[in-house]
Amino acid sequence: MSKIILAGGFGKLGLAIQAGLAETNYDIVGVLSGHSHESQYPVWTSLDQINVSADIFLDVSTPQTVFNNALWAIEHHMAVIIGATGLTDDQIDTLREKSERGVLIVPNFSLSAVLLMQFSQLAAQYFPDVEIVETHNPKKVDAPSGTAVQTAKLIAKARIEEPVKSSEGAARGQRVADVAVHAMRLPGYIAQQSVYFGGIDEQLTLTQSTTSRAAFVPGVLRALAGVEKITDLKIGLDSVL
Ligand SMILES: NC(=O)c1ccc[n+]([C@@H]2O[C@H](COP(=O)([O-])OP(=O)(O)OC[C@H]3O[C@@H](n4cnc5c(N)ncnc54)[C@H](OP(=O)(O)O)[C@@H]3O)[C@@H](O)[C@H]2O)c1
Repeated sequence: MSKIILAGGFGKLGLAIQAGLAETNYDIVGVLSGHSHESQYPVWTSLDQINVSADIFLDVSTPQTVFNNALWAIEHHMAVIIGATGLTDDQIDTLREKSERGVLIVPNFSLSAVLLMQFSQLAAQYFPDVEIVETHNPKKVDAPSGTAVQTAKLIAKARIEEPVKSSEGAARGQRVADVAVHAMRLPGYIAQQSVYFGGIDEQLTLTQSTTSRAAFVPGVLRALAGVEKITDLKIGLDSVL
């Protein structure tokens, strides 16, 4: 049974992970949080309070805290999974240099989002004309989403032929790696992304959506299984699938 320290365990994603790891082979040995919480697990509100060892440090805290937490975990010889967003390229380089065991950065734990990106790369080889529409809750701070940006970059890399030229303008979306990306912000949505491909008299649309944070748990379980098998820093759930 692997021992897990869960950072950010009382946030929206952290609570879904707490529920998802119950009755698995993963044993949460404590939770690092911003404030103290009633819990069946030991709860620490600073790194220097942590008084147990663990195999894996799983961080779903905040963009402000994830880097220091991850450094601490590496220094304490743990494998690290980073689900929180906000690491800069320089911070990622530092973690790569310091890593002793596996460090897995997972921008998106959703299996359907990861598969959508893979399928989109395949389709882009045959259909270079493509646009992305992503829809998230109005509370989401960034637009377009990191997943949409990453999907656009992967499509651009996978294209063999140039897309047809079309008109420009605000309503034509934001150009990311020469792919138009449209972001909608609507209540009632958590995360949805559609990739529209157009060919000669045929269309292909790929859509994925997550309707609750429980959707991230299968991806978290795959990350937990994968991180102990890698020995350096990797980015993306697909690197351990
Ligand atoms: N990779 C993915 O698939 C994925 C999916 C969804 C979200 N995310 C990312 O995951 C992160 C968390 O998202 P969320 O929606 O769960 O946010 P959230 O509800 O705001 O939760 C963040 C949690 O971090 C805790 N925290 C504050 N300072 C901390 C510290 N020093 N060490 C450890 N924990 C600390 C807070 O604790 P208190 O409650 O005690 O203040 C809070 O519960 C964000 O960066 C988000 O973008 C990633």
